[in-house]
Amino acid sequence: MTPRSWLFVPGDAAAKIEKATNSGADALILDLEDSVALSRKDEARSIVAAALRHDARKNGLQFWVRVNPFSSGLTQRDLIAVTGAVPDGIVLPKSESGADAATLSAYLGDLEAAAGLTHGQTKILPIATETPLSIFNLGTYNQSGGRLIGLTWGAEDLPAAVGATASRNADGSLSDLCRLARSLCIAGAAVADVAAIDTVYPDFRDLEGLRAYAAQGRRDGFTGMMAIHPAQVAVINEVMSPTADEILHARKIIQMFETNPDAGVVSIDGKMIDLPHLKQARRIVAAMRA
Ligand code: COA
Ligand code: MG
Repeated sequence: MTPRSWLFVPGDAAAKIEKATNSGADALILDLEDSVALSRKDEARSIVAAALRHDARKNGLQFWVRVNPFSSGLTQRDLIAVTGAVPDGIVLPKSESGADAATLSAYLGDLEAAAGLTHGQTKILPIATETPLSIFNLGTYNQSGGRLIGLTWGAEDLPAAVGATASRNADGSLSDLCRLARSLCIAGAAVADVAAIDTVYPDFRDLEGLRAYAAQGRRDGFTGMMAIHPAQVAVINEVMSPTADEILHARKIIQMFETNPDAGVVSIDGKMIDLPHLKQARRIVAAMRA
């Protein structure tokens, strides 16, 4: 099942990695990119590889690694350092198209073979909206192969790349460019038939703001969200899980269509229910956790 909460941890911070394993997150993203200074990249690679080998994957906790982008020239070194230590997947920042994810997939195939791992076991989550060009390619991730499990987006790099002075409006809402990127990320994920994962909520002390933001994301189609602080994890897990009422209603819809197999449209509690609702209902039931 695709993780609901993805907690970022700077890759050179061993104590934080330890702390993060007890955060309740579904997945950790051990970061080798922007939260690690250039002078600390090597140190971070060893700490991340050691953390993966140490393997605290209790209760199904997934360990992902965010490598540096292709444009940095550091990606290969990152991948060589961590792939053999068996991360669940790689987060690819500044991905510009499905072709970038396919390129990463080919690198991973070679490294898996060298390490004696099963071909295809290392999954991929691209951050797919961080460069201006990437916005025009969000519909191409259906061509990146079977490792892709989701698409996510970022609200910081794109505004900087186009010369905008901020990613948010004066009232705190996302700029038009960011809203466009966010919506296209949802549509692009649907094209590729993978999960849409929402970006981080940077104000980590404001848990009510996070809750409202995440709830909007779920209504819009996101099924998971990234976090930067352990305190954000519980809120995200809760908001990104179906509620008891939703499950009850979804089961009603599924049952209604099962008992009326020839019906295209039915009514429940005075509301019209047709195929799109059945699809949603099946998704909600599929997203239930034990
Ligand atoms: N993972 C694990 N532990 C974390 C954490 C994280 N992402 N963020 C904070 N913590 C720990 C702190 O180390 C601290 O531990 P301690 O009590 O043992 O000292 C505790 O949680 C409370 O932290 P707090 O004082 O509230 O925050 P901070 O000022 O120490 O840290 C940040 C704030 C933003 C630096 C920190 O949350 C962080 O590093 N976030 C991740 C940044 C990142 O990876 N960015 C890249 C993607 S956008
Ligand atoms: Mg970024």
